[in-house]
Amino acid sequence: MQRIAVVTGASSGIGSALCERLLQEDASLLLCLACRNMEKANTTRKKLLSYFPHADISVVQVDVGKVESVLNAAKEIKKRFQHVDYLFLNAGIMVNPRISLSAFVHGLFSRQAVRMLTTAEGLMTQEDRVSPDGLQEVFETNLFGHFILIRQLESLLTCSERPSQLIWTSSISARKSNFSLDDYQHCQGKEAYSSSKYATDLTSVALNSHFNKQGLYSSVMCPGVVMTNMTYEIMPAFIWKLFLPIMWLIRFFTHTYTLTPYNGAEAQVWLFKQKPEVLDPLAKFHSCITFLGKKYVDIRKMDIDRSLAEKFYQKLLQLEKELLAKCGSPAPKQ
Ligand SMILES: NC(=O)c1ccc[n+]([C@@H]2O[C@H](COP(=O)([O-])OP(=O)(O)OC[C@H]3O[C@@H](n4cnc5c(N)ncnc54)[C@H](OP(=O)(O)O)[C@@H]3O)[C@@H](O)[C@H]2O)c1
Repeated sequence: MQRIAVVTGASSGIGSALCERLLQEDASLLLCLACRNMEKANTTRKKLLSYFPHADISVVQVDVGKVESVLNAAKEIKKRFQHVDYLFLNAGIMVNPRISLSAFVHGLFSRQAVRMLTTAEGLMTQEDRVSPDGLQEVFETNLFGHFILIRQLESLLTCSERPSQLIWTSSISARKSNFSLDDYQHCQGKEAYSSSKYATDLTSVALNSHFNKQGLYSSVMCPGVVMTNMTYEIMPAFIWKLFLPIMWLIRFFTHTYTLTPYNGAEAQVWLFKQKPEVLDPLAKFHSCITFLGKKYVDIRKMDIDRSLAEKFYQKLLQLEKELLAKCGSPAPKQ
C-alpha cells in the first residue's frame, strides 16, 4: 500500500534532509512538502527528484504562523489525499537568537559545562514578536499553527485500520521551568523557544490520550545540535566552522552534536519505521551520534505531567475556537 507523508518546513535544513531520507527508506512514498515559500519548496522538490526521478512529490503552500494559511493548506491536502500516514510537524523558528558570550565563558569553567554545551541552557537570548493573528509568533509557528493543521486534517488521520503518526520536531531545550499555563504563549518571559517546545511535548502527550483509540499516535523527537539556517542565525556560518573541530571533540562527552541535517533526521526516520502502537507516549526520541560517527536513537523519559498536558490541551481548544471564529470557520468537534 502506498504510504503518504506530509512534512512541514521541508524547504531547508532538517526537513529537507528528512524528505531525502524518507525516500531512501521508501521510494514509493507519496511525499507532500508543506512549505511557506513556494520557490524554495520547488527547488527542494527538484533536488529530491534528481536523486529519486520516479518519486511522487508534491508541494503545498502553508505558513504555520497564519491560521488562514493553515486552513487553506488543510483544504488543499484534503482535496489531494484520502489519508495521511505520517504528518511531520517540523517547521520552526527562533526569533533573533544570540549567544551570550559572558554566559558562555562563565559556563565553560563551571561544573555545568557539559550540561550547558548539551542543552544551551542559559546560553542564549532571543526575542519574540506578535503574529498577524495577534498571537506570539514563536508559539504560533512552532506549535499552534501545527495544532490547527492536525485538527483540520483529523478525518485523514483517524482510521483505526490504518494508523497515522504525528512526528513533532521538538528540542532538548524544551524545559518545564520555562513554561507556564497562565502565560502559555510566553508573552512575558525571555525563553519563547524553550516554552514553545515544552508546549509541543505537552500537546503530543495530550493528543495521544485523545486520539490513540482512533488510530492516531503522536511522538516528539530532538534532532540534536544541527547546522542549519536556524543555527546560522545564532552565529554566522564561518564562526560555526571555526568551532567545528571543538564540536567534534565534544562528541566524546555528549552524543547530541549531530551537526548535519542528515544525522539530525535520524530519530524521525527511526520513528517512521516503528509501529506507533508500541511507542511510549511519554518518551522523547533523540537523534545521537558517537565520536566515531555511529548514528543511533536515544529514548529519554520526558518531564511531563499528564494532568498539565490535559489542562493545556483544553486551552488550545479554546484558543482554536476564538481564532477560527475570527476567520469565520467553525471549530472541529472536540
Ligand atoms: N538546528 C538545530 O540545532 C535544532 C535543534 C533542535 C530543534 N530544531 C528544530 O528543527 C526544526 C527544523 O529547523 P532547522 O534547524 O532545520 O532550521 P531551518 O533550516 O531554519 O528550517 C526551518 C524550516 O521551517 C520553515 N518555517 C519557518 N517558519 C515557518 C512558517 N511560518 N510556516 C511554514 N514554514 C516555516 C522554514 O521555511 P523557510 O525556508 O521558508 O524559512 C524552514 O523550512 C525546527 O522545528 C527547529 O526548532 C533544530
